[in-house]
Amino acid sequence: MRQNIASLSRRALVCAVAIGALVAARPAGATVSVCIDSSNPARTMDRRVVQAVARQQGTDAAIYTFDGSGKGDDDGFDVKTFSTLAASRCALVLGFPVDAQHGAVPEGVRATAPYARMGFVLVTPRGHEAETLAALPNGTDVAVTYLTAPNLYFVKHPNVQADIYPTDAQTIASVVHHTNRAAMVWRASAVAYLPGGDKARDYCIHALNEPHAAWDVVALYGPQGAAAAASFQKSVEALRRSGQLAALLSPYATSPANPIVLAAADVPAAPAAAAAPAAGGEKPALFTAAQADAGKKAYADNCAQCHGDNLEGMAGPALKGKHFASPKANFHVGDIFTIVSQNMPATQPASLPHDVYVDIMAFLLQQNGMPAGSTALTFDGAKSSTVPLVYTGE
Ligand code: HEC
Repeated sequence: MRQNIASLSRRALVCAVAIGALVAARPAGATVSVCIDSSNPARTMDRRVVQAVARQQGTDAAIYTFDGSGKGDDDGFDVKTFSTLAASRCALVLGFPVDAQHGAVPEGVRATAPYARMGFVLVTPRGHEAETLAALPNGTDVAVTYLTAPNLYFVKHPNVQADIYPTDAQTIASVVHHTNRAAMVWRASAVAYLPGGDKARDYCIHALNEPHAAWDVVALYGPQGAAAAASFQKSVEALRRSGQLAALLSPYATSPANPIVLAAADVPAAPAAAAAPAAGGEKPALFTAAQADAGKKAYADNCAQCHGDNLEGMAGPALKGKHFASPKANFHVGDIFTIVSQNMPATQPASLPHDVYVDIMAFLLQQNGMPAGSTALTFDGAKSSTVPLVYTGE
């Protein structure tokens, strides 16, 4: 089992092996010099981040793309050829995933603080949607990619069986071609391979609330890359504060809940912020106080009979507090709003006007410790929001 976790991503392994060559001596110059894996489904996101970082630093990005996908053999890929090709191509290698709970970067390599949080999702066709593995009918085959963390989930969920595919693209294709009712892949792969991406009307994408399902994305570097890593982190943090980072990462990943800790001259190998997000990170203001006020009344009229006058839970689950929006649950505003606007009230799903759902969402966010601001929440904005929803109240 340990072995499985360790070899989660072929790309991760490849990076680990090739890193010595990639991060060879290259002084941090004016340009932002990075390597991006062209086989990474989140490469578009990494590219956007690098370009924004370069703009932020008033300079250019030098992006070197390499193919970490392998040539079909079990080894994945010819490390030697690659080393020769890529030696001293870049200061930072983007897109390396680190398990958010138990993460470690390969020995002898350093990592920046996470610039994104992504993870494994459950993909189901609309009409058969299930938000969790437990909700799938007995005997359901669930497509999963060879040697990825979701292979571990079948033990705990005897209602489902693994149908294993070599690549995320094939795993997704099995759902698209109706071979399987559900698939578990990286969020980035769902976005990349579903027809229509995250806007695919015919599919539902839900974050998996299972062990090893949440991952932090870091950039790797060698001893010579420390200065480049420090300025990369500084720029990413500036983008996070200005609210631009979330937009750059969407829909592949969300922005880290915590401030990105600046690298000291010599950063420890383990990313500092790899732990679960703690309460108190800065939260964006997504709604107005007037919306939350209106939502309070609409909630009392439409939701309180099942979820309790104080959102404490009755026939329906609690909608406030640690047990609802815990860091572990890995909820995003868009996930919850989708549930609220499509499935609630449970007796008459999707029966309320759009603006009433939005007001209720504003009230839920406020009750879970999110601040009100001057910009109103909209229906589409709420639906597509990848802002993490983590309770930070008392
Ligand atoms: C008739 C009872 C009922 C009413 C009315 C109702 N709900 Fe629910 N709600 C439930 C039940 C039962 C569940 C759990 C269902 C499930 O998990 O599939 C639930 C689940 C939820 C969830 C998901 C919680 C989680 O932890 O996954 C949210 C969010 C939610 N409801 C919000 C609302 C809102 C907002 C309203 C008012 C617009 C509302 N509900 C009205 C019964 C109700």
